[in-house]
Amino acid sequence: MKLLLLNIKELLQVRENAPAKVAGKDMATLPTLKNAWLLVQDGKIKNYGSMDNIPTIEGFKTIDCKGKMVLPAWCDSHTHIVYAGNREQEFVDRINGLSYQEIAEKGGGIVNSAKKLQATTEEALYHQSAKRLEEVMCLGTGAIEIKSGYGLTTEAEMKMLRVAKKLAANYPVAVKTTFLGAHAVPTEFKDNKEGYMDLVCGEMLQKISEAKLADYVDIFCEDGYFTVADTVRLMKAGKKHGLIPKIHVNQFNAIGGIAAGVKHNALSVDHLEVLTKTDIEALKGSDTMPVALPSCSYFLSIPYTPGRELIDAGLPLALATDYNPGSTPSGNMNFVVATACIKMRLTPEEAINAATINGAYAMGLSDTHGSITKGKTANLIITKPIPSYGFLPYAFGSNCIENVIIKGKAI
Ligand code: NIG
Ligand code: FE
Repeated sequence: MKLLLLNIKELLQVRENAPAKVAGKDMATLPTLKNAWLLVQDGKIKNYGSMDNIPTIEGFKTIDCKGKMVLPAWCDSHTHIVYAGNREQEFVDRINGLSYQEIAEKGGGIVNSAKKLQATTEEALYHQSAKRLEEVMCLGTGAIEIKSGYGLTTEAEMKMLRVAKKLAANYPVAVKTTFLGAHAVPTEFKDNKEGYMDLVCGEMLQKISEAKLADYVDIFCEDGYFTVADTVRLMKAGKKHGLIPKIHVNQFNAIGGIAAGVKHNALSVDHLEVLTKTDIEALKGSDTMPVALPSCSYFLSIPYTPGRELIDAGLPLALATDYNPGSTPSGNMNFVVATACIKMRLTPEEAINAATINGAYAMGLSDTHGSITKGKTANLIITKPIPSYGFLPYAFGSNCIENVIIKGKAI
């Protein structure tokens, strides 16, 4: 499949030698090329340049991009798109005054999703999840991380990860999978959290790594869920199976999970709605990517991750959706980018860097995704005619996407 994009008003995130990630002040720069062409061959970015000196290129299907922007497809490094049913009732309970934590204490929340998932066949789970994947691809997502964590038994966790792997095989999107068995303590282990941790760190990790179902390991490090000691135990156990940590921390409380994650070389620490100075210090000089999930803050009406502060401290930042049935029933990266600008005071340049190149880093995909670089996968968003790239977050309720290309093919 050969494709030639012509007359691109502005080609965004063009990097000849792309860095693995961008941090601090560098996030304010979004390298672009105006009035550009881009050549796609065999699913990869073959070449690009200015329309002023376009070479003769023949035998390619052409797309005229007059007035339109072209940018790398979004890299969504944190999702839970494999789930069963929904939690609409809890949404109404929250409107009526209950908090997310109160709902969980009543047996709702993650445990509620686990009951539904355990009772759902693998086939039905696949179809429900594939629908969501197709939806987010149309919204411009070209690479995605998918977590388990709504199984909470060995068999159901494996079922989730097999579904994620089947999605990876059947769709052109790049998929990374994460084992999140330590998402909540299941009802059967209500008074025996240690017993559940034994299961997660023992049988579950063993079987999941034997079946090569996961790239990463995750845990919900939070009061009422898992402690920092549990987190350290899991990260150590994961390492023995070759799994790098990507962890849920500091959503409601700062309990020291960030420093522990950094110490154990977590690829990313995600949520960070509640952040202390010590947490920020712990991240400095590390290879761990802080990941903000602004649509979760929006949906739960909780604080936004202090992204401005993180970037001003010289740190990198990635943005992801957290698409899941409880805290974020939305996988729209366009909304995430807009909300990061509107509520976290990121500039459009910073937000686009966070949702492309830094998102790719947070999935270990920076060599192949996240920028317009020769040889990288041709995952592209073609916008409708818009005045500037700042219009993307500005027009937060509009769909500015005209076409999405994944692995060189229009979807
Ligand atoms: O990232 N916070 C932990 N896990 C998910 C939500 C889980 C749920 O409520 O179903 C999150 O927000
Ligand atoms: Fe999450």
